Parts: sequence; structure tokens; C-alpha cells
Amino acid sequence: MENSTVSVQTVAVERVRHFAANFPALEKRFEGKYPRIFVSGHGVYLVDSDGHRVIDGGNHLGVCSVGHTHPEVIAAISEQLQTLEFTSLEAGASHVYVAQLAERLASLVPLEGPIFSFTSTGSEANELAIKIARDYFRRLGQPGRNKILTRQSSYHGSSYATTTATRIPAFRDSFQPLVPGFVELPQPFPGYCGSCDLGGVCPGACIQQTADLIEREGPETIAAILAEPISIPGAIKVPPSDYWPRLRELCDQHGILLIADEVVCGFGRTGKLFGCNHWDIRPDMMSMAKALTSGYIPMGALAVNRRIQEVFVNDPLAHVNTYAGHPVACAAAMKTLDILERDGLVEQAAGYEPSLVRGLEAAVSGVSWTTRVSACGLIASVELQVPATIDAEAVRMDLWNECYEQGVVLRVTRGAQTVSLLFYPPLSISESELAVALSGIERAMQSTYHLHQRNLEESIK
Ligand SMILES: Cc1ncc(COP(=O)(O)O)c(C=O)c1O
Repeated sequence: MENSTVSVQTVAVERVRHFAANFPALEKRFEGKYPRIFVSGHGVYLVDSDGHRVIDGGNHLGVCSVGHTHPEVIAAISEQLQTLEFTSLEAGASHVYVAQLAERLASLVPLEGPIFSFTSTGSEANELAIKIARDYFRRLGQPGRNKILTRQSSYHGSSYATTTATRIPAFRDSFQPLVPGFVELPQPFPGYCGSCDLGGVCPGACIQQTADLIEREGPETIAAILAEPISIPGAIKVPPSDYWPRLRELCDQHGILLIADEVVCGFGRTGKLFGCNHWDIRPDMMSMAKALTSGYIPMGALAVNRRIQEVFVNDPLAHVNTYAGHPVACAAAMKTLDILERDGLVEQAAGYEPSLVRGLEAAVSGVSWTTRVSACGLIASVELQVPATIDAEAVRMDLWNECYEQGVVLRVTRGAQTVSLLFYPPLSISESELAVALSGIERAMQSTYHLHQRNLEESIK
């Protein structure tokens, strides 16, 4: 393979599946530019093969907390590689690195007497939570208590059970038949809950609808509710303040397990160490991944409370994962946690929220389409309700491309006529870097809006 951008682009298109990338459409609109090929990263920046430096505003998918190629994480990993690169947790053997990490996590997660199962991804952690919930009730003599409830427009992973748990039609509809026993709950956020619109005022009815649905399904048939503390797809959906306490109450009242999916929220992204900490919620199980290692080595984990674990002590769960507790991933996680704590990155994320909101509101000032800015800590969204007469997919592609040209790579997703920009830079971003990113987004937003609005006005003339 030649080491020219053109040949790397061709091979990437022809040999590698990229998520949600329509390369023919990109080629037609931006000839010769896609895919952008990254060759290096440093701090909050990624560098492409043209030498163009962009701030990573979310191409890391919520993984990157301490920044790219952090020398301390690299040193910890390389030291671990020279000491013990891998050994498993099979039948009677353990290792010091996984024990140290589990002990450290135990002091951080809001669970009673937690025990940890390690995985390689967030999907596997959620998949395991679902298996444990069902096996737990089977062992208690309640095999009929096996339904798993998850919320509208949520994402929980790519395995079959987590695809079923995911409630975004595009991620599940083509894969029918899905896993039986899953039921949809409302999402507590206007525009996503089924009862109020984007821009509407949330009447807080979701929790009552949830209670009614539990009654209709039969509480004795429900094993668990699986939910992100703050759901991310499409918008940063911070629920009304009484939602999580009341959800916990409902679970307690009916003996339903509560599983918090902290795969994105976990490790500081929302301005608290975990999303559950916003409401002092103690889930029964908690899945985590992504920022656990800041992405240096893939690692996921499921924390399970003591009450559940006791049922498995004398008759272990039949579930194996070769790479569980991988020593190099443990080293990356320990160092990431050191940096997070030492540099105060969680508090810094919380402190950035007002500037994030101000910057993104400035970005949409003068935009005549319905818009909404939502944020929590260092993760924010801008939703644009694109008029039916404008091609929303073209807006989505242009917005991504313009942000890139303005020095920020982030995520832009689309519902039918809604285009959503998601911005979540590394937690280590400085104030001046954040200001640079926000002004780049503002320029990109304004030029994309004016281009499409002008085209629309000209087509009407
Ligand atoms: C909330 C949530 N849960 C689970 C997952 C699945 O994690 P992974 O892609 O590591 O399997 C994701 C991935 O984006 C996620 O956002």
C-alpha cells in the first residue's frame, strides 16, 4: 500500500467498515476529502494526513478523558507490558493488578459491597448485567421474572441482547427477531418521551407512565430496569430532578433490579464521577467502559452489589471473558484514575458547563429553525429542527464538514428532520482550547445554516 493519503483513503473505504458513513454520498458532496485520515494525536488534538490539526470534540466517542498520547499513561502501560502482559482470571488464579483496580473502583462506585466483572467493552458489561439479572431471579425460584425494561431512544450496545435493549429503531429494526422479554419505557425528556415536543416544557409525567407500565406488565415478571443516568443519543437528556429518586423507589417497591449504564456518563463526563452521583442513587448493578482507561486499552466493567453476588458465591455464574481484567488495561485504568483525581478533571468538567452552554447558544443565535442546546458537565448537544423543505442529511454532512474545516471534529447525527451536534472534548481541555473549539463550532453552524437557508430562499423565488 502506497503511503499517500489517496491510497489510504481508498483502502479505508474499500476494506474497513466505518459506522454510519455513506462514502459515496460524502464523495459526491466533498470530492476527494473523505475519509479524513488521522495519523497522530496529542492532548486534545488529532492530526490528519494533510497536517491539519483538529480538536477532538467527540471522535473518541466519549472515551478520551486525559487527552491523547498522555506520557504518564504510556509509561504505565509500557511498564506493565514489561512486567506481565497477560494472564486470565480462570479457575483459581488471579493477579495483583486486577485486585488493585477492583479495590480502587470499590471505593468510588455508589454500590453496597460491590464485586467487579471485567470485560473488554461496554456492550459486554451490559450484556452481562442482563444475564445476571435473569439468572439471579431464576436462582431465587422466580424464572418468570425475566423482563428487561429500557428507555426510548437509548443506546446500550451492539451484542444481541444490548441491541434489543437499545431503543433507537435504526440500530435494531434490521436485526429482527430480537431477544425476547424486553419492554420499552418512556425517556424523561421533551421530544423523546412521546408526550411532549422538542422545546416543550416537561410535565414530569414520565415517571407516572413508567409506574403504570410496570403495573400493566406485572411487576412479578420484571427482572430489571437498565438506563443511562443521563441519556446521550440525539441530545443530552437530563431528566427532571425527581425522576431518578422515584425510579429507585419504584424498583424497591416492586423488587426490580436497577442497572445504571455509566458507559458514557462514568468517570467525570457529566461533571460528577458517575451520572448516578447527581441524585445520590445507588443502583444494584453499574456498567462502565470507555473513559475507565481513557481508551488507551479497551476495558469495560460491571459492578454488582453484594446482595446479588451472594446468590452466586457457591455456584458461580457460567460466563467467561478471555480478556477480563487484562493487566495492561488495569494499568491504563489505574493511571487514568490517578490523573483524573490529581488534575481535578471531574470538577473542571462541571465548571465548564456554563461556558459550553453560552458558546453553543451563541452558535445558534439568529438561526430561524427550532433549536435546543442541552448540556451536563462537559458534554453538550445542539438539536436543529430542519424545515421539511431542506435536505436534513445534507445539513448533517455539511455541519460535520464545516466543523472539521473550522478545526473541530465532533459527532453530528440525524433523526427524521432533526440534526443533532454532540460535543464532548477530552476532560483535560484547557479554557483557551475550549474557547477555540466553541468559536469554530459557531462559525461552522452559521455558515451551514446560511448556506441551506439561502438555497431554500432561492428555490422559492
Ligand atoms: C450508553 C452506552 N452503553 C453502552 C455502549 C456500548 O459500549 P461499547 O461500544 O464499548 O460496546 C455505548 C457505546 O457507545 C454507550 O454509549
